[in-house]
Amino acid sequence: MSGGDAPGGGGEDLRVADPRWHIRVRGLCKAFGSNLVLDHIDLDLERGKVNVIIGASGAGKSVLVKHFMCLLRPDTGSVWVDGTDVFALATKPLSTFRRKFGLVFQFAALFDSLSVEDNCAFPLREHTTKSKAEIKEIVRDRLAALGLDGTQKKFPGELSGGMRKRVGLARALVLDPEILIFDEPTTGLDPLATRNVDEMILAAAERYNVTSVVISHDMASVFRIADRIAMLHQKRILASGTPDEIRAHPDPYLSGFIRASGVGAALGTTDRADRSERTDREDAEAAS
Ligand SMILES: Nc1ncnc2c1ncn2[C@@H]1O[C@H](COP(=O)(O)OP(=O)(O)OP(=O)(O)O)[C@@H](O)[C@H]1O
Ligand SMILES: [Mg+2]
Repeated sequence: MSGGDAPGGGGEDLRVADPRWHIRVRGLCKAFGSNLVLDHIDLDLERGKVNVIIGASGAGKSVLVKHFMCLLRPDTGSVWVDGTDVFALATKPLSTFRRKFGLVFQFAALFDSLSVEDNCAFPLREHTTKSKAEIKEIVRDRLAALGLDGTQKKFPGELSGGMRKRVGLARALVLDPEILIFDEPTTGLDPLATRNVDEMILAAAERYNVTSVVISHDMASVFRIADRIAMLHQKRILASGTPDEIRAHPDPYLSGFIRASGVGAALGTTDRADRSERTDREDAEAAS
């Protein structure tokens, strides 16, 4: 992501898909009544990477991300996805456009009365004409990719919180989204389950080559998964860049935010580049 100073400068043509920047937000303003939430947001999200958005509770992270797929419309400003002006889409092309996105919510939002397999098959039955056998195979593939093969016949109530989140991701992946949006995927999970969800975000990004947008409060997790980080503060993008750039950023609010999360001094050891340090034992524990 790059914020504030738009990459490409004034000469950029947003109507042309950019090889690097998948989602481009320009001058986005959004108020609810007298409550101005977003004030001229400029932001670029990088294709095929894990883009994390951080900020205090109520800063407007969820509101911002909802604009990407036009779940909310701005007062002014635009969002461009691969050269498409999202808010200019008519109803029908908009519903096609939305199929580019997979959503993984804070609470996994599974249907409790449906098995894992039926939960994951649901979008395929709704939106495609694939055969039962094809659907079964796609669901098996996505579950296997997330270490969940064999859970097909279980019900959500029989799974741990972390496993439910992974089922939520498997379901988001069945329609082959280009962009995956995670709104606080690790909220309510213990540290080990959080790591496990982090691994799954990275696994999905690598295996399915998606652009990921992750909203997170948990800075340890953020530094494990992020290729790019943007901070939303006081209605604007306060900073955006690589984890190193964010860590070195001089803004006192940003450095305080990182320090307050308790990962300040030891950050270097939790970075994405070092994630191979995680042991097989940890993996086994996290999966159990
Ligand atoms: N549909 C809505 N109608 C009115 N106000 C809203 C609506 N959605 C969000 N808001 C307001 O917008 C502001 C930002 O909310 P948002 O949910 O984006 O925060 P957030 O950064 O995601 O916070 P959290 O980390 O707690 O999820 C809040 O003041 C909230 O009350
Ligand atoms: Mg939110």
